[in-house]
Amino acid sequence: MINADTKICCLIGDPVEHSLSPLIHNAGYQALGINYAYVSFRVSDIKRAIEGIRGLGIRGASVTIPHKIKALKYLDKIDPPAEKIGAINTIVNDDGVLTGYNTDGDGALQALEEVATLKGKKVVLIGGGGAALAIACGLKAKGVKVVVLNRTEEKAGKLAEKVNAEGSGGLNKLSEISSADILINATSVGMWPKTGQSIIPKDLLHNRLTVFDIVYNPRETRLLAEARERGCAIVYGYKMLLYQAAGQFELFTGLKAPLPAMESALTQALEGGRDAAHFDRR
Ligand code: ATR
Repeated sequence: MINADTKICCLIGDPVEHSLSPLIHNAGYQALGINYAYVSFRVSDIKRAIEGIRGLGIRGASVTIPHKIKALKYLDKIDPPAEKIGAINTIVNDDGVLTGYNTDGDGALQALEEVATLKGKKVVLIGGGGAALAIACGLKAKGVKVVVLNRTEEKAGKLAEKVNAEGSGGLNKLSEISSADILINATSVGMWPKTGQSIIPKDLLHNRLTVFDIVYNPRETRLLAEARERGCAIVYGYKMLLYQAAGQFELFTGLKAPLPAMESALTQALEGGRDAAHFDRR
């Protein structure tokens, strides 16, 4: 029940209307019976929103597009991995001291580690945006060899340099996959409504490969369906969404996230009930 003691957490972004974050976080609060509530705010001015967090004593915030980078300069402290990435997805308010974190990379690693060991492996990471950067940072910290490939080759090169990756290039280097253990799609290719698209030709998918697609709408993208057909282990994108939210939950509450309750709220929303057309990437 919401009362005078309720701790408030929120999502800050634009757009936020179709985000699944309120659903996942509130399912977690309910499962643990804790007096928290999670709401979303569509925000255009991030500076004023962060002043609001301080002013109202909001316990924590998830931060999404377009504020993940700009938010950094209004915070008191930044967790080192988030500093390296140059973007946050989480703010925690400890009695007026605001700290920024980034749980995206850890969320992706946790999803991958459910099906594959990482140390010493070779990963081909497709993408050159913020999601690819957060994942690349996490992978490098785990002792993984990373080759970054992206449609815009220059962005792949910059990202690779930033994280000290083993290689980079354009999409003309997809043959790198033949010697890889893990393939990650960190682009938006395959996301609704263009569900017929895949960035990887099917014949490059070999059965020693684990394939992780960060796109979660649809739950099984064309890439993942083809990977499954070719005998690859697969990792669904919704798992990254779940684990990055679980990381935030733990930062906000100091409690272990009740994963089964949070996962079932998320998969139910993805599979039925709500119009798939309306989901955002995050
Ligand atoms: P995010 O922060 O989620 O990573 P982003 O910064 O917009 O989002 O990055 C989107 C990624 O998807 C980029 O790597 C982009 O490639 P470019 O850097 O060349 O733009 C990639 N992407 C989007 N549409 C694509 C397409 N049709 N083919 C190949 N790559 C695509």
